[in-house]
Amino acid sequence: MIISIVNQKGGTAKTTTAINISSGLVKQDKKVLLLGMDLQGDISYALNITNQEKSISEVLMGEVLIQDIILQREGIDVIPTNISLADVELSIGKVENNSYLLKTYLSVINKNYDYVIIDCSPSLSLLTLNALCASDQIIIPLQLTVMGVNGLELMLSTVEKVKKILNPSLKIMGILPVIVDKRKNLSKEIMNYLIEMFSIRIFKNSIRANVKAAEAPSFGISVLEYAPNSTSAIDYKNLVKEIINS
Ligand SMILES: Nc1ncnc2c1ncn2[C@@H]1O[C@H](COP(=O)(O)OP(=O)(O)OP(=O)(O)O)[C@@H](O)[C@H]1O
Ligand SMILES: [Mg+2]
Repeated sequence: MIISIVNQKGGTAKTTTAINISSGLVKQDKKVLLLGMDLQGDISYALNITNQEKSISEVLMGEVLIQDIILQREGIDVIPTNISLADVELSIGKVENNSYLLKTYLSVINKNYDYVIIDCSPSLSLLTLNALCASDQIIIPLQLTVMGVNGLELMLSTVEKVKKILNPSLKIMGILPVIVDKRKNLSKEIMNYLIEMFSIRIFKNSIRANVKAAEAPSFGISVLEYAPNSTSAIDYKNLVKEIINS
């Protein structure tokens, strides 16, 4: 199953979620590929992968084979990103069927994995479109603030368009509340609003705000490794069980 972690809004814990879901799935004995499709190379930074390594950029440009650039971190197979993805976007702009490039490359290795997790850029760019076309499901991490929810409609209408035109089998697995401050009434109000407005599943296991989640990337490891007993590690482990059972 290929799952994209997507939200065009910046800083909604997409990268944190992609890494920690992957780590949690591996701990449940699943075979996992984590693929970075974000322009800043955050997966690489957060998993201590140097920028010299070949990345998905060179695969999309047809310069290397996808199976030749897979690295291992914490039992996860990782395909890193680097900043040259921005150039890729320009150079594949005129290629025919350019929304399906990633799908085509992933089809070579997809069968080796129980889950492929794709970390997306905070934009609805051609690269994100490639991720949506390659995916079976998406997870939308969302902050339960007024600012966080603004833009959700645009995200959902983009997904509807992709379903209609490019990838009819794409499904929204759910909205994942992240960096949640459970003491705040506003979070509860917004959660109720989401449930009323959109008939989309909201994961039962939301991810609480916790400093350990923010600290882990500077140590180059997941929060499940860095602070296994922290609330964010526990939340991600519970979320992984919910994903496996869904
Ligand atoms: N549960 C959490 N508690 C506290 N801070 C968190 C939590 N999850 C993520 N963060 C912090 O929030 C910030 C944004 O997270 P992250 O980089 O994962 O978001 P993103 O959606 O990938 O961002 P971008 O859109 O720039 O790619 C980071 O500084 C991260 O460490
Ligand atoms: Mg990111």
